[in-house]
Amino acid sequence: MEKDIAKIVISEDQIRNKLLELSKTLIRDYTGKEWTIIAVLNGSLVFLADLIRLIPFPIRLDTIDAATYGESTFPTTETKINRQFKIDIEGKHVLVIDDIADTGSTLKRVLDDIRKYKPRTLKSCVLLNRSSRRRFNIQPEYSCFDIGDDFVVGYGLDYNNKYRNLPFIAVLKDACYRREGIL
Ligand code: IMP
Ligand code: MG
Repeated sequence: MEKDIAKIVISEDQIRNKLLELSKTLIRDYTGKEWTIIAVLNGSLVFLADLIRLIPFPIRLDTIDAATYGESTFPTTETKINRQFKIDIEGKHVLVIDDIADTGSTLKRVLDDIRKYKPRTLKSCVLLNRSSRRRFNIQPEYSCFDIGDDFVVGYGLDYNNKYRNLPFIAVLKDACYRREGIL
């Protein structure tokens, strides 16, 4: 994979430090509460796995499968819920975790959906926030890094379902996107 990378945008060290900081904030905000995390598949998996292991008390956890992007770097117009969460969230403190808030379509769709099940509180947490492309009025309460327009991969984020396993966030060489017929 190394040969496909143009630039590392956020290093492993930066991610580790930021997650420590975020976990302290979340511990402060959710200690003593019945905390339920709903993670949006697949992009949030790596972020989720590292973050929850920094939490020293029991949490309730489930996932929801939402898709907006399909197979390209351009978003399709609507977000679909492919698989709903199963856990009971009525009266619970729910935190939705996703990899990135881009246009905001995914988070808006997921939050609107979850709200119907009457959680006591409902907030969202993302690894990356790209506010320049926001189309929906959504602002995650917790966010680790602000990023620019470049399409990024790694630490859970994919390009055509690849590169999720890079341990950092990177921009790919133009040739990689071109090779797959996008640029
Ligand atoms: P939104 O619904 O437009 O906010 O986009 C959310 C979804 O699009 C994310 O959960 C990602 O899966 C995907 N996405 C947006 N930007 C990027 C990117 O730069 N790299 C990889 N995936 C992205
Ligand atoms: Mg996603």
